[in-house]
Amino acid sequence: MSSELSKQIEKLREEINYHDSLYYVSNKPEISDYDYDNLFSKLKELEAAHPELITADSPTQRVSGKPIKSFNQIKHKSPMLSIDNTYNPEQLRGFDQKVKKQLEDKEDVEYVVELKIDGLAISLTYQDSVLTQAATRGDGEIGDDVTNNIRTIKSIPLRLNGKRTPPKFLEVRGEVYMPKKSFASLNQLRSEAGENLFANPRNAAAGSLKLLDPRITASRNLSFFAYSTAQAIGDSKDHYQSLNKLKDFGLPLNPHTKKVSNIEKVIEICNSWETQRYELDYQIDGMVVKVNSFAQQEKLGTTARSPKWCISFKFPAEQATTVIESIDIQVGKTGALTPVANFKPVKLAGTVVKRASLHNFDEIKRLDVRVGDTVVIEKAGEIIPQVIRVVKDERGIFAQEFTVPTECPECGGEVIKDRDGVSLRCNNKDCPARLKEKLIYFVARNQMDIENLGPAVIGQLVSKGLVKTFADIYKLTLFDIINLDRMGQKSAQNILEAIEKSKKRPLWRLICALGIRHVGAQNAEVLSNALGSLEAIMNATVEQLEEIEQIGPIIAQSIANFFALEENRKMIEEMLECGVEPTIEKKRYSDSLKGKVIVATGTLENFTRDGIKQAIKENGGKLSSSVSKKTDFVIAGKNAGSKLEKANELGVRVITEEEFEDMINGSADKSEG
Ligand code: IVH
Repeated sequence: MSSELSKQIEKLREEINYHDSLYYVSNKPEISDYDYDNLFSKLKELEAAHPELITADSPTQRVSGKPIKSFNQIKHKSPMLSIDNTYNPEQLRGFDQKVKKQLEDKEDVEYVVELKIDGLAISLTYQDSVLTQAATRGDGEIGDDVTNNIRTIKSIPLRLNGKRTPPKFLEVRGEVYMPKKSFASLNQLRSEAGENLFANPRNAAAGSLKLLDPRITASRNLSFFAYSTAQAIGDSKDHYQSLNKLKDFGLPLNPHTKKVSNIEKVIEICNSWETQRYELDYQIDGMVVKVNSFAQQEKLGTTARSPKWCISFKFPAEQATTVIESIDIQVGKTGALTPVANFKPVKLAGTVVKRASLHNFDEIKRLDVRVGDTVVIEKAGEIIPQVIRVVKDERGIFAQEFTVPTECPECGGEVIKDRDGVSLRCNNKDCPARLKEKLIYFVARNQMDIENLGPAVIGQLVSKGLVKTFADIYKLTLFDIINLDRMGQKSAQNILEAIEKSKKRPLWRLICALGIRHVGAQNAEVLSNALGSLEAIMNATVEQLEEIEQIGPIIAQSIANFFALEENRKMIEEMLECGVEPTIEKKRYSDSLKGKVIVATGTLENFTRDGIKQAIKENGGKLSSSVSKKTDFVIAGKNAGSKLEKANELGVRVITEEEFEDMINGSADKSEG
């Protein structure tokens, strides 16, 4: 029976790996997301019932391991080198001549031309086909062990299962990157949560891999292309053959790699990508040109820094010049005033751009940018337009210096300097522009997802005074909506239905929708998982919030401040009265701790503070912070101190971490038998 079950589980894993590879590696899915989800759920179900059959390379185990304090260091078996740069065709020809000169025998030289993916270099180790280690480049000699984060990247197979059997030991090197779209939406979410933005997809990818919690990395949608091996595979004679083998092992390879017979063809390809690059889903910063033959590579050798058989061709960041026609000031949902430059439309990095954020008023001063100025613009991450500098020589006599506003351009309210000392903020909490932005965010797809309630409708609801708080959305009647401009009966009904539907969104969405500073989707989910109810989140003290993993003091304070305001509490109260009932996906695994009051003390090996709390809750118990007669038992980890003493004094039962684990896993064992 059990071996049959193992076979069934193994078969499901193979199927899932196969479809993952089609989806993430070859971009040719064969089944629908729905069918895929079914396979995945089936596997999860079987593994939950038989945890002894879970293996580390199971597709359900991508997000594994717990948040860590710091990364271990790994010494690379062979150094991860860098590449020398060239910037024009002449320098590429120079490289070709140098190569040929060094290969004195004047052999023909074949080149492989690859895209230079703008991410970060990673070394992956596969032993007996299983991914066992992943390390960053670091200083080239020693990197960080980022295995648990790398495991979350779906295009990286946890087990190689392609057409060809890989060698027993395989070290693959390649680039982890963040697709342009993921970069844009990550920055969007960060900006909405009042967090710092990443300057480009490379920084975003690096930042995401250096996170100590793999669950967050998993949400960052990173991807990977392999571009070499650290050791030659079998009898491969050249780089191109070797790449094809990697592909046959099931690793993701960039599809645009080309093998060519001379440097002029290399130049042709490099030139063509200089413009074509904007059509890619990911950012490249140039091309990499490699001598194909391993024998020739060996003859050419390496310097301490870089191989002599490899060169990169770097693209300049594309720039354009245009004229600033006006500078608007946008009022954000937190009241922040953001200057935005409108310019004469100009083509840049594949699209026509008309405006760029100037971020804040200090930036205007730093750039000394004035309406009428000619400016040089660039796109950060090939996506976000930015003003780089003013062409001062072209400044006309009428170019006007920008005056920093002393009152809100939308409501005339007082303008104050933000805590960061840089941004300006409208201090009128009833500013209609601010309210409108808050409402747009509240109803947006990533938050309460109220379809059809778009910015235009919200604008009217605000200006007519029909909606002053989030709660007012839930008080709207058909009559209110139907009387708006350009509104038909059907559309009005649709809006009402969408509002009704939104009443039962998960708790984290509601928390996120409130627009609390520093609380985006991620932190909202953390709060919802850790505290489990709206009431608990509203009533948590700063100290309790800080105890939650990932919630630092600034975030904790911001949450507590929000819920300390009477008007916010009233607004939530009203929402609840209108029938808003956030749902909570309760993961109650057993009743094994039903009604038990438990204290955990000392350092636990297998649980974080947050984790133990959750485990106790999920099994029906309650974590308490102090030991009393009412305590049912104390879980004592290493170096337990006064709480352990108190438990012994009061005769409260003390158990080890292992005994606790047996307690909560006990019911699973029973159900198996
Ligand atoms: S080969 C010894 N191929 O560029 C050469 N590198 O500026 C090893 N990169 O650290 C690297 N795309 O992170 C190679 N197709 C590609 C690449 C690539 C991006 C990165 C890599 C390297 C950096 C050097």
